[in-house]
Amino acid sequence: MKVKWLQFLIIMCCSLLLFSKEFTNAETHPDKTTRRVKRGWIWNQMFISEERNGNLPHYVGKLQLNSSVLHQNAKFAIQGESANTIFKVNEKNGDIYCFERLDREKKSEYHLMALLVDKKTAKTLEHPSNFVIRVIDINDNAPQFTQKAFNGSVNEMSDRGTFVTKVTAVDNDDPTIGGNAEVTYKIIQGQEYFTIDNIGTIYTAVSNLDREQRDTYEVVVEARDSPGQNMYMSSTATVIINLIDINDNFPTFTESQFKFDVPETLKVGGEVGRLKVEDIDEPQNRNTKYSFLKERFQEIFAVTTNVNTNEGILILKKPLDYESVKQYNVDIEATDPLIDLRVAKQTRPKSITNVIINVLDVDEPPVFSKPFYKFEISEDSKLNNIIGFVSAKDPDAANRNIRYSMRNFKDEPIKVTNNGNIINVKTLDRETADWHNFTVVAEEVDPSNPPIKKESLGLVFIKVLDVNDNAPEFAEPYAPRVCENAAHQTVITNISATDKDEMKPKMKFTYYSAKKENNFTVQDNHDNTATILVKYGYFNREVAKFHYLPIVISDNGQPEQSSTNTLTITVCKCNEKGEFTFCEEAGKLAAVSVPTIVIIFVSLFLIILVVTILAVLRRMQKKNTNILGKNTAEIHEQLVTYDEEGGGEMDTNSYDVSVLNSVRRNVQRPRQEMEASPYLYAHVQKPTRNGDMSFMIEVKKDEADNDGEGLPYDTLHIFGYEESESIVESLSSIESGSSESDIDYDVLNNWGPRFKMLADLYGLEPIEDFPY
Ligand SMILES: *[C@@H]1O[C@H](CO)[C@@H](O)[C@H](O)[C@H]1NC(C)=O
Ligand SMILES: *[C@@H]1O[C@H](CO)[C@@H](O)[C@H](O)[C@H]1NC(C)=O
Ligand SMILES: *[C@@H]1O[C@H](CO)[C@@H](O)[C@H](O)[C@H]1NC(C)=O
Ligand SMILES: *[C@@H]1O[C@H](CO)[C@@H](O)[C@H](O)[C@H]1NC(C)=O
Ligand SMILES: *[C@@H]1O[C@H](CO)[C@@H](O)[C@H](O)[C@H]1NC(C)=O
Repeated sequence: MKVKWLQFLIIMCCSLLLFSKEFTNAETHPDKTTRRVKRGWIWNQMFISEERNGNLPHYVGKLQLNSSVLHQNAKFAIQGESANTIFKVNEKNGDIYCFERLDREKKSEYHLMALLVDKKTAKTLEHPSNFVIRVIDINDNAPQFTQKAFNGSVNEMSDRGTFVTKVTAVDNDDPTIGGNAEVTYKIIQGQEYFTIDNIGTIYTAVSNLDREQRDTYEVVVEARDSPGQNMYMSSTATVIINLIDINDNFPTFTESQFKFDVPETLKVGGEVGRLKVEDIDEPQNRNTKYSFLKERFQEIFAVTTNVNTNEGILILKKPLDYESVKQYNVDIEATDPLIDLRVAKQTRPKSITNVIINVLDVDEPPVFSKPFYKFEISEDSKLNNIIGFVSAKDPDAANRNIRYSMRNFKDEPIKVTNNGNIINVKTLDRETADWHNFTVVAEEVDPSNPPIKKESLGLVFIKVLDVNDNAPEFAEPYAPRVCENAAHQTVITNISATDKDEMKPKMKFTYYSAKKENNFTVQDNHDNTATILVKYGYFNREVAKFHYLPIVISDNGQPEQSSTNTLTITVCKCNEKGEFTFCEEAGKLAAVSVPTIVIIFVSLFLIILVVTILAVLRRMQKKNTNILGKNTAEIHEQLVTYDEEGGGEMDTNSYDVSVLNSVRRNVQRPRQEMEASPYLYAHVQKPTRNGDMSFMIEVKKDEADNDGEGLPYDTLHIFGYEESESIVESLSSIESGSSESDIDYDVLNNWGPRFKMLADLYGLEPIEDFPY
């Protein structure tokens, strides 16, 4: 209230000042005013305090002219904003009154126009003048926070004075009047931890805010106006401040000792166990790293960190062996290398746990001493010679005996004995098989009952070493020819040799003629070939058309091997140019080797055999027509039963012809339209092409073959039989022609020449070639 009075006083003073000025003007120049009728409005501005108490209307001010003499008919009037509603004027003396409580925060000034009009003529007597009524502010608004609640966050353990957040409050009052709109801030709850400055920025007040102790602070901030005065308005807001976690806590093992039992067969990379740790930081700030206190365990185990749980996973790096180490005692340290050491609570953080790993015994299969075995043996080795041995060991404490055998034993010339020796039981031949590769089984001999079969497999490669046990021979079957008139030293042919033994680079063949007396020269070329030349020249075909030249070929192996190979040289007739004109073919015949002839004869024999068997089978089939043990009459009757097929395409009752047609349609072009005229006989539509019907039959046969259910079509069973004791005899005409027939056709002979033909046909002659 004091403030309002003060304002009022100020306004009054201003008014008085202006009045006094007016008065002085009027008094100092009284003549002027009277002399000059020119008048003017004195004020163009008025003031009224907002929210003014007291009875309405409130006096605002006075419209005045600088001439005090007014025309009798003149009256004051106002126009403009809120004229004659909120503001009204006394038309006689120009007093303006306000008829409403005003709020500056709604409207701070009103623009109006002052008029002096003639009551009668309504003519303006004076120039209208604009003037303003200003609403004077009083501190009637408290500062308002822009939000009801604020959020802020700051890293835990931040330094003192670290920015947290900023709050803002706005005061609607007139900032030009006093401190009505000047806002100051103050923390009224939580000031032990946070401070706020003049413009609403919140900072930390301490440096030891620990999220692990308390993670949220509710701070109440007050905003207040009119600083330094007792009369002020204020409001409050809540600021929720969350502490952001930093990595400032070390992990610690939950147990001082972990114990794991692990079978020795655990695969490398397998999990041995898990080490649990506790880290009170938030999950993203848990980065536990594990390490072994003794480095030698690093080769056997590894610890990795589970990303989700932060726990340590103990992994196996090397195979375990119960027989060598039964227990591991490992110390493991957990730490966090990413920790912020500036703020960490511990100085030298270390969490150590003791891990006991008990290796459990597992009955394991035997282990071979080598991944595979490779031996060599000469092909001429004596029988039952020990080539080598395999050995395996039971890795378990039981150390059982091992029995060896050959996997998938074939008729090999090599055998593995029970105790692992490898011996040759048959003669070896490198030329047949140069390697003997096989799998050896090592099996534990288990006395327990039933025995637990523990076995493992090993590979054995045996190379058969070559011995020169094959003589060289002609590389191909040579059949050289020579002209009967060939001259001395004429080259007949070049020959070369091969050897089944290993062909070593140093291998040398030598050639010489077996007979001294000779019509040919064998010339060794010393490059593993030889040239055959004519020794004397001029052969006599009358004496010999073929010459046989035995050639000894020997190798330089250890021991040396040689063979005599005979070259058959044909003497041919030649023309003058030395071209062959006639050669005996004997050479060619001779070229047909014995095996070829044998094959030809065997083939011939087989063909004859097959033909004979087929013939015999045919005969037996004929006899087997009586397969069901029925007499001929019954079979005939079956044929009669067959006769019921009748029908055909028009008889749709007996047979479902559509099935047949469907097949036909599949293989044939669309069926020709049936003629509309009725048929005398069942009309069977013939297939237009031979192929169609045969194809159709094939299709039906195929269907029948693949039809698993039902009897095959050609089974006699599916037909009913006429009772064999039937009084009605068979209708079959077949047997009527048999010799047993009791009709005597001999009478025909007596019937004269007219029936001679019939008599000849059915007469005395027994009918032997009955078309059966
Ligand atoms: C009244 O005011 C008008 C304009 O402001 C001026 O021209 C005139 O001289 C004044 N008259 C007197 C008597 O002061
Ligand atoms: C403050 O944070 C809480 C929780 O995250 C949220 O629900 C609320 O809307 C936030 N308030 C403000 C004013 O941002
Ligand atoms: C046997 O093993 C050897 C060496 O691995 C190989 O060269 C050879 O081809 C093998 N022989 C057979 C018949 O598997
Ligand atoms: C036979 O061998 C000799 C010596 O190697 C060679 O000069 C000659 O050309 C060969 N003749 C034929 C017909 O191959
Ligand atoms: C050499 O050939 C002649 C006939 O051409 C024959 O009489 C003679 O026996 C042959 N000599 C030998 C050693 O074969």
